[in-house]
Amino acid sequence: MREDDRVGMLRAQLLGTERSLARSGVERLWKTGRGVAGLALSALGGRLRGRGEGLAAADVRAVSQLVARLGELKGLAMKAGQILGYIDPTLPEELRGLLSVLQTASPASPFPQVEAVIREAFGARADVLLAGLERQPVSVASIGQVHRARLPEGTDVAVKVRHPGIDEALRSDFRTAGAGSAFASLLVPGAAASVRGFVEEAHTVLLEECDYSLERERQTTFARLFSQDETILIPAIEPDWCSPAVLTTRWISGRSFDSFLGSQSSQGARDRMGVALFSFYVGTLYRHGLFHGDPHPGNYAFRDDGRLVIYDFGCVRSFDPETVLACSALLEAVRTDDARRIREALVALGAEPPGDSESLEMLRTLLRGFFAPLLEHGAHPMHPGPGLEAQELLRDKRFLARLSLPGRFLFLFRLRFGLYAVLARLGAIADWGALESQWAEAARLRVARVSAAGTVQTEL
Ligand SMILES: Nc1ncnc2c1ncn2[C@@H]1O[C@H](COP(=O)(O)OP(=O)(O)O)[C@@H](O)[C@H]1O
Ligand SMILES: [Mg+2]
Repeated sequence: MREDDRVGMLRAQLLGTERSLARSGVERLWKTGRGVAGLALSALGGRLRGRGEGLAAADVRAVSQLVARLGELKGLAMKAGQILGYIDPTLPEELRGLLSVLQTASPASPFPQVEAVIREAFGARADVLLAGLERQPVSVASIGQVHRARLPEGTDVAVKVRHPGIDEALRSDFRTAGAGSAFASLLVPGAAASVRGFVEEAHTVLLEECDYSLERERQTTFARLFSQDETILIPAIEPDWCSPAVLTTRWISGRSFDSFLGSQSSQGARDRMGVALFSFYVGTLYRHGLFHGDPHPGNYAFRDDGRLVIYDFGCVRSFDPETVLACSALLEAVRTDDARRIREALVALGAEPPGDSESLEMLRTLLRGFFAPLLEHGAHPMHPGPGLEAQELLRDKRFLARLSLPGRFLFLFRLRFGLYAVLARLGAIADWGALESQWAEAARLRVARVSAAGTVQTEL
C-alpha cells in the first residue's frame, strides 16, 4: 500500500471512531500499558530512528496501533505523538507520516457528549447551532474536536468543542510520575528534567489550552493585529457561539502542510509561505511582544491564493518590552559572537549564566546551535535542527541546571525547533538572519521611543 493511502486510511479510521475519554489516572495508566505513553513513544522512536529505508509491515502495524492508542488517550499522550511527528528530522519518513495523523485526527468524543457540551453552553439556543452542525468532526485533537456548521443566516463556521473531562485527564497525566518531564523533554530534547520551571510551564500552558475563553481573547487580539496583513488570515470569532468549552470561528479552509508539499508548488511559493510562517511565528514576538508557541502543521493551512490561515490560539505567550529587548540583544550578541553581551542579554532574560570560561564556551556553542540558521549570511534553506554539538549540550543535564533558564523559555525553544523543522521540510529559501535582525532592530527602536515618551507598554 502506498504511504499516502496508509496515512489517509488511518486518519479516516480514527476520525470515524467514537470513544469516551479515559479520565482517571489508573484508567489512563492501564490504557497506555506502559504508564507514560510519551516514554513508550520515545523508546519506539529510538529503535526505529535512523533506519533509512521503509518500515517492516510489523513496525507499521505497531506504530499504527500506538498512534490509535495515543489518540484515544488525548491530553499529554497525544501531544507527545504530535510533537514527535514533526520535530525530529531523524525519524524515518513513514513513521513521521503515521505520527502526523495525530496532528488533526484521533477517535472522536461520542456525539451525544458533544451535544451535551453545546447544550450546557447555550441552553435553549443550542438547537439553532446543532441544527446546522455536521455530526462527523473534521478534526479531533488533544483538547477538543472541530465540527463544521452553518449558522441560520448562512455563515459557515468551525465549532471547536472541548472533550468532556479533558482538564481532569490532563491533571491526572501530570500527576503520573515522570510524565510531565518526559513531555517537556520532547519539547526541548533532553532538557526538561534538569530545568526548573519547564515542567510547570508545560503544565500551565496545557491547562490554559482547556480554557476556550482565553483562546477566544487571544484569537481576537491576533485577528486585530493581522487584520490588514496581506498574507496571514486569522478566522474571526463568532462571539454569540463561544463559551469556556466551545469556540466558534468563521470557516476558512486551506490545504494541509502535507498536501501543500505534495502539490508541486513552485520554489517561489514555498519561499513566500516559509517567510510568512517565520514572520508570523518569530516576527510577532518582536513586533507585539507575543507569540504563538505551537508551530505544528495542524495549526495552519495553505491557500491557493498564496495566503496562510492560522488556527489554534491555545498556546500563546507574551513578553514585556524589556524581555523583547533582551531577546533582540541576545540575537545580535550571538550573531556578532560577543561573549560579554551574550552574558548580559541572558542575565536580562532572567537566566543565571555561569562565569567560568569553560561554561561560557559551552553556552556559546549552545546558543550558536539555537540560532544556527540565523548565523549564515545570504539566502539559504533552513537547517532542520540545532547542530550536533548543541544537541549534546541540551542533553547535558548538569550544564543546563547550572544555567538556570526560566520556565518561560520552554515555548520559545519549542517554537524555534518546531519552526526550523517545518521550514526545512518546506524547502523554503530566505536570508533568515537578515529578516530576524531587521525585526529585532525595529523592536529596539520602538522600545527606545516608548521609553523616551515615559511609558513602557507593549503594542497590544
Ligand atoms: N475556522 C476554521 N476554518 C476551517 N477549519 C478550521 C477552523 N478552525 C479549525 N479548523 C480545522 O480544525 C483543525 C484543528 O483546529 P485547532 O484550532 O488547531 O484545534 P485544536 O486546538 O484541537 O488543535 C485545523 O487543523 C483545521 O483543519
Ligand atoms: Mg491545533
